[in-house]
Amino acid sequence: MKVLVFGSGGREHALVWAIKRSERITEVVCAPGNGGIAQDARVVPADLKDLNSMVRVAEAERPDLIVIGPELPLSLGVVDALRDRGFRVFGPTREAAMLETSKGFAKRFMQRNNIPTAAYVICSSVQEAEQAVELFHPPIVVKADGLAAGKGVVLCPSRHTAVETAQGMLSGALLEVAEKQVVIEECLAGEEISLLCLTDGKHVVPLAPAQDHKRVGEGDTGPNTGGMGAYSCDDLLEPAMQEWILHHIAEPTVRGMAEEDTPFTGVLYCGLMMTARGPQVLEFNVRFGDPETQAILARLESDLVELIEAAVDRRLAEIAPRWSPGASVCVVASSSGYPGTFRSGFPIGGLSAAVKVPGVQVFHAGTAINGEQLVTAGGRVLGVTAAATSLDEALARAYQALAEIQFEGIYYRRDIGHRAATRRNA
Ligand SMILES: Nc1ncnc2c1ncn2[C@@H]1O[C@H](COP(=O)(O)OP(=O)(O)O)[C@@H](O)[C@H]1O
Ligand SMILES: [Mg+2]
Repeated sequence: MKVLVFGSGGREHALVWAIKRSERITEVVCAPGNGGIAQDARVVPADLKDLNSMVRVAEAERPDLIVIGPELPLSLGVVDALRDRGFRVFGPTREAAMLETSKGFAKRFMQRNNIPTAAYVICSSVQEAEQAVELFHPPIVVKADGLAAGKGVVLCPSRHTAVETAQGMLSGALLEVAEKQVVIEECLAGEEISLLCLTDGKHVVPLAPAQDHKRVGEGDTGPNTGGMGAYSCDDLLEPAMQEWILHHIAEPTVRGMAEEDTPFTGVLYCGLMMTARGPQVLEFNVRFGDPETQAILARLESDLVELIEAAVDRRLAEIAPRWSPGASVCVVASSSGYPGTFRSGFPIGGLSAAVKVPGVQVFHAGTAINGEQLVTAGGRVLGVTAAATSLDEALARAYQALAEIQFEGIYYRRDIGHRAATRRNA
């Protein structure tokens, strides 16, 4: 089998690595990939903002299976375009992807289908926002409707700042594009958990639960990033709680989407707040998360290609993935300055020593090859990933590997997994 993966980050490197382990695979191609992916797969250029570019790559490569990494091509309808041309693709159609690409759509959908989520009002004008904020106690959460690369959610300390934020989003002053609508919602308190599920449009198979770390600074401080680290361990979610989430969130979502004629297939990523009155959906993503995927796949013992094919062929009812017991962690090494401005092009050293640490994989997020030299080429540079029989041991391995790695301005959080200790002491 030949598999084509679209994307260029750490998530796609982890996908390529896991796909390559499958016995059924003869070739993995990644478009456009990055410097590290190029060591594990053939990389070909592609513009993920351009459907025609992706279709051309698929037609040139004729893969047996296509896996889409990021949300942007899904939002453009890459799955529809490729299926129309007869390709087998893993991922949701453009309409089904609206669970992620429009937060307003997702909130209305959840309300119609009785899926627990924060109370909300959708506003398309400043006047509506002024009325809506009266219904909530500060802090108030204001969310851009559309994709905003992690910059579209603001926790506002007062009604006044909530209205200002809504105004900034609607006028276009705050984000790259002016939003047609914003979601104003109740601020939930609790611990955040990501439960990613594979679905074939009917059956739902949960992956190992994970927790990510969005803020750049230790102790969850500073601005939001694409994700500075993630970990997965079984005690993140009690089995009964996971069952509840499946029965009250993931399964009704998939059933509702099917009933509403927008059947959802691919990865349903449930971003949850574990509140005092139970799990509530913060958001859905419609694809593998980054860097949760690096940690999750490090624990996967089953053949990822078999899981993905079962989803594409609507055979997920027969599938139960096997996980290595224990835990895994992915610590992101970034360029200093990220998520603000940073410099790229610095040589990266120490990787061969890093991967000698038992259980460690180094996934590349933003790297490139310059001549013979691997160099930094992004804010998030590497995802140093380790699996072990306990979270403490996985963390020790990841940080031991990180100590071997050098590039100018390397920055990583030293407290990935810190909430696990708090949970243990609770
Ligand atoms: N209702 C809410 N209450 C408290 N925190 C929230 C709420 N909604 C979102 N957040 C916080 O903001 C982060 C980003 O929100 P999310 O809906 O996941 O949007 P996105 O990932 O698209 O930026 C969440 O991970 C969570 O930390
Ligand atoms: Mg999110």
